[in-house]
Amino acid sequence: MKRSTVNQTIEIAKEVFAAVGLNLPSFASWTVMDWESKGSECDEIRHSMLGWDVTDFGQGNFDQLGRTLLTLRNGSPKFGSGKDYAEKLILDPEHQKPPLHFHRSKMEDIINRGGGNILIRLFQSNDQGQCSDENFTIQVDGQTREHKAGEQLRLEPGQSLCIPPGLIHQFWGEQGTGIPIKGKRYTVSGEVSRVCDDWNDNCWLAPCERFCKIEEDEPAQHHLVHEYPPAQ
Ligand SMILES: [Fe+2]
Repeated sequence: MKRSTVNQTIEIAKEVFAAVGLNLPSFASWTVMDWESKGSECDEIRHSMLGWDVTDFGQGNFDQLGRTLLTLRNGSPKFGSGKDYAEKLILDPEHQKPPLHFHRSKMEDIINRGGGNILIRLFQSNDQGQCSDENFTIQVDGQTREHKAGEQLRLEPGQSLCIPPGLIHQFWGEQGTGIPIKGKRYTVSGEVSRVCDDWNDNCWLAPCERFCKIEEDEPAQHHLVHEYPPAQ
């Protein structure tokens, strides 16, 4: 995907996060130039991969298949903070989905942090790591519900769903809801989870790249989480 698209979506995310009343940590505003003077005091940010994370999953169709995330906290053996939890903010534009996937070990709560509604599609995974047609139970705001395979679940602002390992999921902003910016609407979801290892813990139903190749058509405003330079 193009760097200009990465720069653009981060600016929209900042605007939408502010519109739902979320204040961001200082590293969310650090530019590529700011990072030139950052030393080892920022190693937790580097090694735990805190910050902006934008991807089109190598599919070349960011409007339909993509993600803009801000990792607020995470654990990492490389930094050794001992943290066993993680938290992210996710920008959910209308129509933009991540590929269907599940996690080997991460359990995550997806929380609608505001803007509009989130729609979630869910399947239990079978032994081949594909969608099972069996029904299952889910926890929505601490309440147990029966759920049909593939059925869409709507989360309104404030509602949350627990996604255990092995549950195939995909979520996006519901069309016609959310904060309007330049002809599109945006919702914000939050993720509170176990440590997130995006290099090893994601199982995609179709081949895709978690961290995609970026075409440098303009200068980067912010480093992405896998682009930080080592400490000076
Ligand atoms: Fe996930």
